[in-house]
Amino acid sequence: EKGGFEHFMLKEIHEQPKAYRDTMRGRIDESGKKVVLPELKLTKEQIKGISKIQIIACGTAYHAGLVGRQAIESLVRIPVETDVASEYRYRSPIVTPDTLVIVVSQSGETADTLAALREAQSHGAHVLAITNVVGSSIARDADDVIATLAGPEIAVASTKAYTSQLIAFYLLSLYLAEVRGTQTQDEVARIIAAMQALPEQLENMLAKPDAIKAYAEQISKHEHLFFIGRGLDYAVVQEGSLKLKEISYIHSEAYAAGELKHGTLALIEEGIPVIALATQDAVLEKTVSNIKEVSARGADIMAITHEEHVVSLLKSVNQAFAIPKTLPLLTPALSVVPLQLLSYYASLARGNDVDKPRNLAKSVTVE
Ligand code: F6R
Repeated sequence: EKGGFEHFMLKEIHEQPKAYRDTMRGRIDESGKKVVLPELKLTKEQIKGISKIQIIACGTAYHAGLVGRQAIESLVRIPVETDVASEYRYRSPIVTPDTLVIVVSQSGETADTLAALREAQSHGAHVLAITNVVGSSIARDADDVIATLAGPEIAVASTKAYTSQLIAFYLLSLYLAEVRGTQTQDEVARIIAAMQALPEQLENMLAKPDAIKAYAEQISKHEHLFFIGRGLDYAVVQEGSLKLKEISYIHSEAYAAGELKHGTLALIEEGIPVIALATQDAVLEKTVSNIKEVSARGADIMAITHEEHVVSLLKSVNQAFAIPKTLPLLTPALSVVPLQLLSYYASLARGNDVDKPRNLAKSVTVE
């Protein structure tokens, strides 16, 4: 049942190229220039009338929402708020009938997310669920569903569900952009082509896990570490940090790289591992200056970046790992994978129960 893999988590990490293909299948028209989402009940008129979007979810699904916000805001220019579901209801959110609410849930059974969905509906909002389980409570109650076709996810630590949620957000953003006329057809075609290349790029990465495995063994001896990144890299390191805590039990914090100097630098001491995600070229220079801030304080830095930056980054970091190049917006669909593998191998090195980490359940049905 684990298909030759030692754990479900590793199997599911390796199923991501297929999950990408399955989630895209039938949702890109033959010309390759247009996303089609025939399942949506949301009409084009409704889409044209959306004044804001709220994305609500828990844990890893919330982290997918952070990337979703960036995709929607940059491609569609509709303002997006993101909330963790357990906070949403208690901040008296401003929800109107022209608010589109997107709830994200692998299981479709998370109690807080379901409650947030109902709260939003009670204010007349249209609720669209991105979920991996089409028969779930959230799928049943939502006004619309975009199914991620990741297949069953067994390991408690979510991997392929997260990345499929990213694909769903990219597809939805492109669809909304088309209806609202915010992107040219050529731009949409360019993004679609890059999305279609992701599964193979990911396969190439998965074929070479050795460098990450060796690094995981190194960090498995530490009790604390930091992740830093800017923009989409910050969204991805939040997921990387959660994954690492969840299964390796190593304490980590994910910081917006520019925010370190507002307090956190006090914790950077000789030899502490810092993992810097530096894939967003628009903010690379700024990230590099933040890398230098931690390097000056003796941090042991590992950077994840693109091949072309490895040599220059190695002037300030101890190790650098290159990932394949795609569009900046799509990079999270590749850059999260070394972080998933890092957590997996760190957990393994510590002798933990990778698929069933302590204190956690696969589906959280209490608030
Ligand atoms: C982390 C993890 C959790 C879930 C969260 C939401 O690996 O699995 O953080 O993402 O409990 O679960 P769903 O997506 O089922 O609503």
